[in-house]
Amino acid sequence: MTQYGVDLFLVLILASLGLSALAIFISVSRRRHHSRAAASQASGDDFATEAARKVLREFEKNGQSVDAALVTWSPDTLRKILADELPDAQVIVVSNREPYIHNETKDGGVELVVPASGLVSALEPITRACGGTWIAYGGGSADRTVVDRNDRVQVPPENPSYTLRRVWLSDDEYQGYYLGFANEGLWPLCHIAFTRPIFRESDWEAYEAVNRKFAETVVAEARNERPIVLVQDYHFALLPRMIRERLPEAIVITFWHIPWPNSEVFSICPWRERILDGLLGSSIMGFHTQFHANNFTESVDRFMESRIERADAAVSYGGQVTLVHSYPISIEWPAELLKALPSVEECRARVRRRFNIPADAKLCVGVERLDYTKGILDRFHALEELFIRHPETIGNVVFLQIAAPSRGTLPAYKHLHEECLRYAEELNQRYGGQSYQPVVMVAEHHSQAAVYELYRAADICLVTSLHDGMNLVAKEFVASRDDEQGVLLLSTFAGASRELLEALIVNPYDAAMMSEAMLQALTMGPEEQHERMRRMRDIVRDNNVFRWAGSMLLDAARLRKRGDLDRVTALYERPAGPTGDNVVSMFERKQAVGFR
Ligand code: F6P
Repeated sequence: MTQYGVDLFLVLILASLGLSALAIFISVSRRRHHSRAAASQASGDDFATEAARKVLREFEKNGQSVDAALVTWSPDTLRKILADELPDAQVIVVSNREPYIHNETKDGGVELVVPASGLVSALEPITRACGGTWIAYGGGSADRTVVDRNDRVQVPPENPSYTLRRVWLSDDEYQGYYLGFANEGLWPLCHIAFTRPIFRESDWEAYEAVNRKFAETVVAEARNERPIVLVQDYHFALLPRMIRERLPEAIVITFWHIPWPNSEVFSICPWRERILDGLLGSSIMGFHTQFHANNFTESVDRFMESRIERADAAVSYGGQVTLVHSYPISIEWPAELLKALPSVEECRARVRRRFNIPADAKLCVGVERLDYTKGILDRFHALEELFIRHPETIGNVVFLQIAAPSRGTLPAYKHLHEECLRYAEELNQRYGGQSYQPVVMVAEHHSQAAVYELYRAADICLVTSLHDGMNLVAKEFVASRDDEQGVLLLSTFAGASRELLEALIVNPYDAAMMSEAMLQALTMGPEEQHERMRRMRDIVRDNNVFRWAGSMLLDAARLRKRGDLDRVTALYERPAGPTGDNVVSMFERKQAVGFR
């Protein structure tokens, strides 16, 4: 570049910064003006939004990831961030599992099912707050009958606030993409549960084809070139790149809901480079924990021609930058369905009646999909260990395990189901009698309201996953206990254990240790329960799901602003034509002019 070119470039950058500062100043003044005008009706929400802006300004100043600790996060905070920081951005969520499933009933009617899925519990309140479109596989037997001619249906049914766009899959596609590559390949690969991953060429082909089908649907649903696309989970590792190719100006935020293995384990995957290339089409790659974010970065470093920008927590690859951050997922707070539930006492009475549990027995509950990563059998082992080590507990404890059937046609899941039933039966024969069964195992789907009722009825909740990205059952149990009673036993291998430090943290592989923790929980006094539960409730309230989404949206807003600035400078630097993604060049140019 000539000296004149360099000068022009610097002048433009300074001018753009000046304009941004002016815009921020005007917007802050306008907001101050508004806030003065509305002072009489100032509310907690206004304070929250102002705090969010403060965080954003701070965040923009130092270019680091946002620390949103000061903000009270609510649906309103999210809406205001969208309106103020990402105006006109259309939100598109993509996941395999849909938030509402329509199924045919035996009498020819249609029933609505909310699936047992942490992803759905987290994303549903967010999409309800933000509006937009949620694209998902239509797997319900009546799903086709309720959509319009564009395969759309408005949800939630009782008070629609967003569009559910269904994507149809053939049996072969479902088998290869969902059951095969996603759940026999990537799922065991990413979880340390010692189940061998299975990789088949035909599954990979189906996975790629289905990712392309979803990419086409995203493009069809996008109202303009610049949507914010929230790609969910391991079903869509190729989708971010496919979206980037078709909508270069989209912000693609990909959230990986399960752990990411270390690079040695990841290297097992025959298509490891393709997966990384696909994911690096994202503007932001999110994980529950820093540990998994680091594992991802390490895999990229090892297998891709890339540059790792450690100070920025970013990866530069193929002319684009992807931020790699941890955003611990959470739940809605306050939980909407708590309002409709009776008192804890009433819940206890109902659940005990329903499952025939003696009034004086302590009730332990486990609630999850029937999955080998959840450590259900290990929980049974621990219960048996408790009975062996402390025989006085026999007759005084009942363990109620709710396990929603999941991926049931796969051999590993069938086997687990059989094993759970067999072991539960064995324990009942060994330690039970006519009026006492120590284990009640119910392998059926339960509504969210029924699950919350169980949480409220329980003395102890056991979340003993062998490995889990986060585990929202732990947080739901805490949210359900407004009486500040109940004890949580939590696996050290679930992401939630990084936050819920007042739980009794256990190693599910150590049955003896778990049985002692169970005894500690069974004998814990109400004061200690109260102290622990209160602190955990503070954490879940402050770090709710609106904060999770808000942090990502604020990061997205920063990227978009940088991208816009970059586009201005690019006009003077490059010949006219498509510029591709605009983030990386911003980083590189900043470095070139010694900007940091
Ligand atoms: O735990 C990862 C996850 O994708 C969750 O986000 C979700 O709850 C579940 O797995 C999905 O299960 P399913 O295969 O039944 O949709």
